[in-house]
Amino acid sequence: MHKQVCYTCLCYFGRGQLDMEGALTARDRVGIQDFVLLDETTEAAFLSNLNKRFSKDLIYTYIGTLLVSVNPYKELDVYNNKQMDLYMGVNFFELPPHIYALADNAYHTMLAEFNNHFILISGESGAGKTEASKKILQYYAVSCPSTALLNTVRDKMLMSNPVLEAFGNAKTLKNDNSSRFGKYMDIQFDSEGEAVGGHILNYLLEKSRVVHQNHGERNFHIFYQLVQGGEEDLLHQLGLERDCQHYNYLTQGECAIVASINDKDEWKTVKNALQVVNIDEINTNHLFGIVASVLHLGNVQFDSDSKGHSKKKLTKCFVFFLQLLGVDAHTLQEGLTYRKIEAQKDQVLSPFTIDHAIYARDALAKAMYGQTFTWLVNRINESMENKDSSRKTVIGLLDIYGFEVFYVNSFEQFCINYCNEKLQQLFIQLTLKSEQEEYEAEDIEWEPVQFFNNKIICDLVEEKHRGIISILDEECLRPGDATDLTFLERLEDKMGNHPHFVTHKLADKMTRKTLERGDFRLLHYAGEVTYCVVGFLDKNNDLLYRNIKDLMCQSKNAIVRECFSTMDPDNRRRPETVATQFKSSLLKLTEILMAKEAWYIRCLKSNESKQPGQFDEALIRHQVKYLGLMEHLRVRRAGFAYRRKYEDFLKRYKPLCPATWPHWRGVPADGVEVLIQHLGYLPNEYKMGRTKIFIRHPRTLYATEDAYERFKKNYTPSIIFYFSSSATKIETCWRGVQARKEREKRAWAVKVIKQFIKGYMTRGQAKITDNSEYLAFVRQNYLNRLKDNLPKTVLDKTTWLSPPSVLTEKSTGNSHNKTCCMRPDRHLQMKLITSSLFKGKKDSYPQSVAQPFMIRNEHIKVIKCRHTPIKYNRNGFKPRPRQLILTQAAAYVIDEAKIKQRVLYAFLKGISVSNLTDGMVVFHITCEDPKQKGDLVMQCDHLFEFLTKLGVIANKQNVIKVVQGSIKIEIQAGKESAVDFGTGQEPMVYKAKNGHLMVVS
Ligand SMILES: Nc1ncnc2c1ncn2[C@@H]1O[C@H](COP(=O)(O)OP(=O)(O)OP(=O)(O)O)[C@@H](O)[C@H]1O
Ligand SMILES: [Mg+2]
Repeated sequence: MHKQVCYTCLCYFGRGQLDMEGALTARDRVGIQDFVLLDETTEAAFLSNLNKRFSKDLIYTYIGTLLVSVNPYKELDVYNNKQMDLYMGVNFFELPPHIYALADNAYHTMLAEFNNHFILISGESGAGKTEASKKILQYYAVSCPSTALLNTVRDKMLMSNPVLEAFGNAKTLKNDNSSRFGKYMDIQFDSEGEAVGGHILNYLLEKSRVVHQNHGERNFHIFYQLVQGGEEDLLHQLGLERDCQHYNYLTQGECAIVASINDKDEWKTVKNALQVVNIDEINTNHLFGIVASVLHLGNVQFDSDSKGHSKKKLTKCFVFFLQLLGVDAHTLQEGLTYRKIEAQKDQVLSPFTIDHAIYARDALAKAMYGQTFTWLVNRINESMENKDSSRKTVIGLLDIYGFEVFYVNSFEQFCINYCNEKLQQLFIQLTLKSEQEEYEAEDIEWEPVQFFNNKIICDLVEEKHRGIISILDEECLRPGDATDLTFLERLEDKMGNHPHFVTHKLADKMTRKTLERGDFRLLHYAGEVTYCVVGFLDKNNDLLYRNIKDLMCQSKNAIVRECFSTMDPDNRRRPETVATQFKSSLLKLTEILMAKEAWYIRCLKSNESKQPGQFDEALIRHQVKYLGLMEHLRVRRAGFAYRRKYEDFLKRYKPLCPATWPHWRGVPADGVEVLIQHLGYLPNEYKMGRTKIFIRHPRTLYATEDAYERFKKNYTPSIIFYFSSSATKIETCWRGVQARKEREKRAWAVKVIKQFIKGYMTRGQAKITDNSEYLAFVRQNYLNRLKDNLPKTVLDKTTWLSPPSVLTEKSTGNSHNKTCCMRPDRHLQMKLITSSLFKGKKDSYPQSVAQPFMIRNEHIKVIKCRHTPIKYNRNGFKPRPRQLILTQAAAYVIDEAKIKQRVLYAFLKGISVSNLTDGMVVFHITCEDPKQKGDLVMQCDHLFEFLTKLGVIANKQNVIKVVQGSIKIEIQAGKESAVDFGTGQEPMVYKAKNGHLMVVS
């Protein structure tokens, strides 16, 4: 699915800055596609670039990773599947700016870092936020891997849009499809990147629209869709006429039918979408029953009696309403025309005036619609819910009503604009402010960028006890004659000096002319808005008379029954006011967003008349200003687009540099420095902070990221290559070793054969180098034969095998050789003893067979070992060269003519050697004798010769033992240690950690 990246960053690093910019701007040649690359950061340059691109239908431009989008008010051919394919898996700067690029980058960052993200889409009403969020959802629907099962989740997410838009969007003066509720949607992805679920949070639906629309505006789309598109049967069943003009709730704006909206077609889409989001037929009927009953309710009229009290006219619409909801006619009639006052035990009915009755009617209509909307969101959530508990990551899409200013602005605009203040505050916190703070913390030099922090306005609205919402709530709860005007007076009392608040009374002469007496004006970050206080208290209270609410709990319409029963679970407590509920839901939203990584889309409205191709510079300048785009640009220009902790940066990109791969042993910051030097980062492209690297331009990072992606792509094959080439190398080496061994063997064979021949030819001569091996061979051969053909008794001197002539000659001729070659019988006897003691037991025995015994001073019965043996002392096993002399009664350990130790054979209870090739021998000495120093540990060169002789002299052959692994020794009475034996590459003797003497042969 991923596109092959054509852009070779590493060589491009080498080519320098100019080429980098060239590569970037070459992609679409209209203006500059990232404002960061603008020559000058003036508003004029900004607008000119935007205009240039807009005129060529290039509606997207970046400020770093922020996407600016200008509403084209026409269909552009940039949202097809081909375009989606193009942007999949490609970084920002490889293709012209697009909403798909941002969506794709958020998605891939989420997958790579396994964390949560959100895309904040902001802009004023009609700027294109909802369209943008739909495009992102469509992109994920196509680009994410999917299965048949997941396709249904995907369809539900996509189809939740037409349903919620039908019930929550309406035509306003600003936008034919204006969102009249806030929407935050989490798209959940599993670790494979598959979209596996979704969840929607909805914010404050503008319910007042159900009962009242300004001129040029409509009610929520669903009403018109039902009336225009509903099937005949359905309309008949619901008692509806196919004529919007028939319904009071649809005609106040005098624009029920608009050319730009096709209600009939939309109706079909919505009906289908309801099925997709699992709303069954029964509930669908209930749903349309509610929509119809709201229309009927709007047509309910009241007459006044002689006292001015309201009387409900019994009209057809009232009957339909009763039928559709299945509620008692009398109770409803009473509920709409009388107020029930509970005075001690009695209930008193107080009649309403006509206005009051209309108010009660409208309150019911709003409550029914509002509750149904929430029910719908809950049902959609149930249908999209992923019940699997495995960990998921999310991308949240925030599409909330844009900042709006009408000729008359009421409570709804106050809430909507407050919401936009909060989001602006979040934007400031997350980007500008945190950016500066981080630079400070990281000790990176910072050019301060002045920006307007709108916290002061947020506080003005929401501060506890002192903010506008608190004062409004106080007035709503205050017993007595609180009115909208007393609320205004309270505001004036408390806010008198606030720089962002002004009223007719507080204003100077000039400003006063622009304000009515019932107005207050807020100087929002996005501009001044004048609010009319009329209706603030009622809308904030949102009261529904108890008797009506109780009646609705009895409704035969299951949705109505469910909604009203769960409305205020705690009946006795006064429900929270609308503004306070809204405030806390925004607080929660802020928390949700703060825990995620942010991506921004700033939508701009190109003109007020929704015309394609019109670039209203003044309107756009205003939006650029209040959306803080210039400030954002300056921050990006002055600062660094990307930063990452050294550890993380190094962990990710270390394969790109031989010095850091596979391990960097030093401090991570140093590793990063080495790495980026290798990558060719130029000095002005980055800064090293305390804990992070700061990269000025995103493209530098993307180039690095590209290199990393390429590395990954090549990684799997390279591992295979690495292993297979290693295997080949090992094989080659092994063959080499074998060949060398073979060669050595042959060379040895040639030498031996040569020597054998030479030896044979010189066998008659005195022992010389040429014949020594041959004579030894003949001797060994003779002895071996002799061994197998021994006379049965020692006394039998006749049947001895006669030695080869070379041996007999030597043994008689040369007196020197007498010592080196014993008389065969004597020699043989010794050899036989050695054989019986060690043959098949000690590994070095076979090599000793060919060696003649060398024993001196035989006649005096003193045997001295030919080579100096090593004695290991008992404390610490220190090696000491000693001489060893055996007499008839004892063995003496001698150091330079001094007797160091005498071992009486009588106390020699055992002699142990290992089964390996070492020359170590342990004399186990009975320690009852206090004069004895404990066991004696020695290493001798001619072990077999020595032990055989000792065994014979001391008559101790039976105590000589060949032991495997370890020989226990007694260092002194009661204190034990051991000599451990093993094999290794090199013979060694050392004191091991366990305190034993370790002998490696
Ligand atoms: N990318 C686009 N391509 C074509 N037309 C667009 C695009 N974006 C927006 N529009 C047009 O602008 C209209 C208004 O857009 P949208 O409903 O998304 O505005 P909004 O920002 O959500 O406004 P509100 O705050 O009122 O909900 C759309 O109905 C559509 O006609
Ligand atoms: Mg919208």
